[in-house]
Parts: sequence; C-alpha cells; structure tokens
Amino acid sequence: MAKHKDKAAARPAPTLQEQLPELRPGQSVELLKALHILTREGKLNQDTRRKLKQVNHLVQFIEPLLAEVLAERGDVSLADHGAGKSYLGFMLYDLFFKDKVVGRVSGVETRAELVEKSRALAAQLGFARMDFLATTVQEALTHPDLPARVDVVTALHACDTATDDAIAFGLAKQARHMVLVPCCQAEVAGVMRQHKAFSLSRTPLAELWRHPLHTREFGSQITNVLRCLQLEAHGYSVTVTELVGWEHSLKNELILARKMPTDRGGARERARERLGQVLEALNLRELSQRFAV
Ligand SMILES: C[S@@+](CC[C@H](N)C(=O)[O-])C[C@H]1O[C@@H](n2cnc3c(N)ncnc32)[C@H](O)[C@@H]1O
Repeated sequence: MAKHKDKAAARPAPTLQEQLPELRPGQSVELLKALHILTREGKLNQDTRRKLKQVNHLVQFIEPLLAEVLAERGDVSLADHGAGKSYLGFMLYDLFFKDKVVGRVSGVETRAELVEKSRALAAQLGFARMDFLATTVQEALTHPDLPARVDVVTALHACDTATDDAIAFGLAKQARHMVLVPCCQAEVAGVMRQHKAFSLSRTPLAELWRHPLHTREFGSQITNVLRCLQLEAHGYSVTVTELVGWEHSLKNELILARKMPTDRGGARERARERLGQVLEALNLRELSQRFAV
C-alpha cells in the first residue's frame, strides 16, 4: 500500500496542456477565465469546451492570412464585425498579435455595454493594440477611428444584414481577406415572399413558396450565393466550406474570400452577369443595391 502511495507521489503533476488538451500552446489562461470560457478553477464545462474548440478552429483559418499580410506589408489590421463579447478578437490578439509590435484588432459592436466590457478587459490584459467601437457595421465604414484600409474583415454570426454590411465595409476598405460565418438573413426571403418569383410560378419550383420555413431557408441559401457572386465580381476568389465543430448550429457556413491581384479569364465579369441573372430569375431586382457590383 505504502509502495502505491510512493508511486503516485513520484508521478509528475499533469501539465496544463495535459489537463486541457483543447488549449493552444501559449494560450492565456487569464484571458480564457476573463471570457468565462475557463472557470475560476481553470476548468472547462461542456459548453465552454465546445466554444473554445470552435473559436480556436476559426483562429487557425485566420492566422495564416494575418501572417501573409504582415510579411508583405509589415503591418496588419483586422476588423471584427458584430463582435459581441469579442471572443474571436481576443483570442486572435492573444495567439497572434500579442507578441508582435505591430498590428491592430478593432471590434465593431452596437451593444455599448459589451464594448465597455471588452475595452476594460483589453486594458486589464495590456492588449494595447485592440480597440472597440460602439457602432453599427454600416457606420463603421466612415468611422474616424478606423483606418482607410483594413486588411482582414471578419464577421462571425453578425445578425441579419450585418454580414452584408461587413462585405460592403471590406470592399470599401480594400480588404485582402474576408472571413464570414453568416447568420440568418431575413431580407432576401422577405422580398422573395412578396414577389413569389413570377418567373418560377408556373414551374414545380413554386413549391418553394408553399411552406414559409422552406422559403426562409431557401432565402438564406440564395443570400449566401449572391454574397459569393458579389465578392467574385469584385475580384475575390471565394471558398465556401463548413466550420467543423459547429454541427449544433445550422449556421456553420464559412465563406473565405481572398482578393486576387488580377482578373484571370474575365472571372469578374462572369460573376457580375451571373449575379444579375440570379436576381432576375428570382425577381429580386430591388436588391441589386444590396449586392452591388
Ligand atoms: C450572434 S452575436 C455574435 C457575436 C460574436 N461574433 C460571436 O460569434 O461570439 C451577433 C452580434 O452582432 C451584433 N450586431 C448585430 N447587428 C449589428 C450591426 N448592424 N452592427 C454591429 N453589430 C451588430 C449584436 O449586438 C451581437 O452582439
């Protein structure tokens, strides 16, 4: 018995990484506690374990984009729209920006109380190159505290048309990369419902308008199709994939857009034409401003 005890005593205490394999090397425990991802005792529960995995997963997509811009121009700026509690911005700062002397993360969020909390947390952690704007994505476009050029634009579940405003922001700020995980968008489905796509009304596809749930989901899909075409028409190469680990959410579509230096083979014009055709076919012409090219 005494032998067993000795053996247990001799075993080294598990490292933090062994206790919490979800943690990235060097990831700040203090930050994760402040974000209430880790409990005060440094533990994860089922929900926060999932959240940590999800955000870390997304961070892995964004880090190489930041590194690429930084290597090219010696600086890098990122704007996160509909930032909420700024999990994404804080974790990116912690894992990528913290050890560098340049680079800036700006969180855009309408809820002033969340912005205040984020400002206080950034000050507490000494994350000096983070700022938070209590404003809408739309207003952020002309906000004096944001630079004329923003390299990377992110919008993670930014509500309704905030993703579209984030795209407009990225286009105006000549973003090199946009990383978007859209939320539900009601605008397109609303217009579709109003006009019931006359051109389809005599085809079996009229079934899409029979059940409001189908119209809504179809509207959501078409919205993302239009967003991708809009980005392509502006010279971005677009990849659409699934955000692994978000299976619990229907909204797990990840749109990655990279600005291309040249227009190869008239891709921009083709996307522009196709966008017009989709708007026409679904009787969504009144949304041409929303998806402007
Ligand atoms: C579902 S939360 C997502 C928060 C965060 N991105 C995340 O994934 O944890 C959406 C956030 O977007 C904010 N929001 C909605 N519309 C906005 C707008 N037009 N401009 C700025 N923020 C907006 C909401 O207040 C909310 O905090």
